[in-house]
Amino acid sequence: MIPDSFIQEMLYRIDLVDLIDGYVPLKKTGANFAACCPFHSEKSPSFTVSPSKQFYHCFGCGAHGNAIGFLMEYSGLGFVDAIKELAGRAGMQVPDDHGAAGQHVEKSQALGEIMARAARFYYEQLKGSARAVSYLKERGVSGEIARRFGLGYAPEGWQNLAAAFDDYSSSELQLAGLVINNERGRLYDRFRERVMFPIVSQKGEVIAFGGRVLGQGEPKYLNSPETPLFEKGREVFGLPQARAAIRAQDVVIVVEGYLDVVALAQHGIGNAVATLGTATTTMQVQKLLRQAGRIVFCFDGDAAGRKAAWRALENSLEVLTEQKSIAFVFLPEGEDPDSLVRKRGGEALQRLIAQATPLSDFLLRELAGHCDLNSAEGRARLVADAKPLLGRLQSSLLRLQLVKRLAENSGFSQAEVERLCDLQSLARPAPARAPRQAPSLLRPLLRLLLQKPQLAGGLPLDLLPGNSTEARAVRLLCETIGDGGVRMLAYPALIEKLRGSEYEGILRAAAAELMQQPFAEEGIDAEFEGAVKRLLEGEHKRVFAVLQEKVQQLGVSGLSSEEKQQYLTALGARGRPGSVG
Ligand code: CTP
Ligand code: MN
Repeated sequence: MIPDSFIQEMLYRIDLVDLIDGYVPLKKTGANFAACCPFHSEKSPSFTVSPSKQFYHCFGCGAHGNAIGFLMEYSGLGFVDAIKELAGRAGMQVPDDHGAAGQHVEKSQALGEIMARAARFYYEQLKGSARAVSYLKERGVSGEIARRFGLGYAPEGWQNLAAAFDDYSSSELQLAGLVINNERGRLYDRFRERVMFPIVSQKGEVIAFGGRVLGQGEPKYLNSPETPLFEKGREVFGLPQARAAIRAQDVVIVVEGYLDVVALAQHGIGNAVATLGTATTTMQVQKLLRQAGRIVFCFDGDAAGRKAAWRALENSLEVLTEQKSIAFVFLPEGEDPDSLVRKRGGEALQRLIAQATPLSDFLLRELAGHCDLNSAEGRARLVADAKPLLGRLQSSLLRLQLVKRLAENSGFSQAEVERLCDLQSLARPAPARAPRQAPSLLRPLLRLLLQKPQLAGGLPLDLLPGNSTEARAVRLLCETIGDGGVRMLAYPALIEKLRGSEYEGILRAAAAELMQQPFAEEGIDAEFEGAVKRLLEGEHKRVFAVLQEKVQQLGVSGLSSEEKQQYLTALGARGRPGSVG
């Protein structure tokens, strides 16, 4: 764990404008800086960086964050790597705590070196193996593309890696998944007589291998086991090689096989990556949606391909936002992307990709395929089957679209579909929970606190009305500012603290509004006092309402003497004659 205090200090030292300007040249526009957004394609700049508040916000796609968020989104770095990179810039050393986490990092470094060395070894071996080279040639892979993907060869024989490592019996080699220790204590190479596909992390480090037999044989593919470096569900094959093309086209194509990726690159389609022999995971989708506005899954046209596509759909729903799109290509029966481009060329596949089936069409088509829409039961089932999927969908616009079409197909009204799928609460954000309590008061308060956190001390928290998310956000904000000391006064530190919490959205919106319309420095204190005064008035009204209700039910004698006093004062304040007996 990297301590919060370190992150806060680091964020305090980094200048976000400098950092971003190094990747995306910024232009000064009034108090802020702007550029065309690097996270979605646009022609006029809506990506804005606030030098005073040290955050970025895109008014087009909603991208929003601090320096850490920027590096994670832009370079696809993980949290820890982003922090390391920033710490380096800030001239700080990431604390190396002596706990398990620290050891883990050291271990990973050692494993990383082992994997790099193994990859070099396999790469060299490929040059020396006429058989392996001719296999790749037969499959249409040129030397240039083989180099680009760092393809290698694990020769026949049981202990080839002994030539690459001083200590073949080292437990690290086993931990790396390269050497296997059998029951009788005999050590041997995991990969033998296989073409090797290195799986490279976003940082450019080899973290695993996939190995294919030459020609026939079982298993056709053998993969590295999961190791401290390699978690299958988080990685895809070919991302570093595809990054530039993905960025240029804002589309990433997802295929199933290593050789599909390689063959597409060979045919000029550079923006493809492959999942690793398992169903596409939510983490993979999320990772790819950070890199591109659109994912096109390209699966085989057979039953297995449809099933793989359906799993990918299910695992995409909760990370698919309004600004992004996902679509599916189903290849003709018996073809995979590799065989298709080799037979018909890259353009044929590009055409299929251009006409990909949108996620919503695929979803409805699959559901409808399982129901008999000519019967009432079938139409009811359509809606029932859709329910869990709609609930997981993050994009409310897409949800509405689907609801409309489900209504058309099922014969229910739109309202009925929403009710049957329990969507009302999702569609209209809970007005029931915060009745009559003017959020119009809380939103400006949030903005005031964001602009001038020092004000937090002057806010009587017990006056905050209700238990709305806004009210809780204001409370949390005040507490966080209060606990955190001076570094916590900075917005980037707040973003970090609240990353992933339910308050993130509200704070982002408030910060973005502030970016366009900050309070005037001179007027901000008065503005704050006004807000506190309105809070007080609101509180008095609420107290009065409670007392009045009691009086109506129990009479004035039902009040305690303190309450009586309050009630009288309130009546007086309201300018009514105090006729209480
Ligand atoms: N795969 C795997 N283990 C297997 C079979 C497949 O990990 N035993 C993964 C590999 O990532 C492989 C992908 O699933 O690239 C697709 O497998 P498959 O469709 O069987 O093979 P192809 O990619 O068509 O392989 P090839 O063209 O080399 O025959
Ligand atoms: Mn194939």
